[in-house]
Amino acid sequence: MVLASRRGMAAEGADELCEELRALGAGVEVVACDVGVRREVEELLARCDVSAVVHAAGVLDDGVVGGLTVDRLAGVWEAKAGAAWHLHHALGDRELDAFIVFSSAAGV
Ligand SMILES: NC(=O)c1ccc[n+]([C@@H]2O[C@H](COP(=O)([O-])OP(=O)(O)OC[C@H]3O[C@@H](n4cnc5c(N)ncnc54)[C@H](OP(=O)(O)O)[C@@H]3O)[C@@H](O)[C@H]2O)c1
Repeated sequence: MVLASRRGMAAEGADELCEELRALGAGVEVVACDVGVRREVEELLARCDVSAVVHAAGVLDDGVVGGLTVDRLAGVWEAKAGAAWHLHHALGDRELDAFIVFSSAAGV
């Protein structure tokens, strides 16, 4: 199991999570990868034998409509939809058991 986030092992609780997963019998590797950057996604997938992908990366930058800017929307969009697009392309025609994508957005 490869767990990817921008902070990798620097993320709070990463050591404890690895210990817990290993105790359950999983082989775990934690890597630093910004999935909003296509090159980083390609480099990660190039060295992985992938059978399933779960994309749950996301950043939160809520605000009222009048306070939203292109930069704020782009930051949220890249980690969610942009990353899904990069994963789709970098995976090419690899056979997967699952490609699971978690995300949400809301507006009023
Ligand atoms: N929690 C909820 O109740 C809820 C409800 C509905 C929908 N969702 C959706 O589910 C998804 C995950 O939510 P969550 O609650 O698990 O969020 P979370 O606790 O904030 O975790 C998000 C994770 O994404 C990583 N991340 C952010 N940007 C990244 C990037 N560019 N590349 C790689 N990793 C990145 C973060 O690590 P780093 O900062 O180290 O990169 C963090 O580990 C989001 O899309 C969210 O909108 C959540």
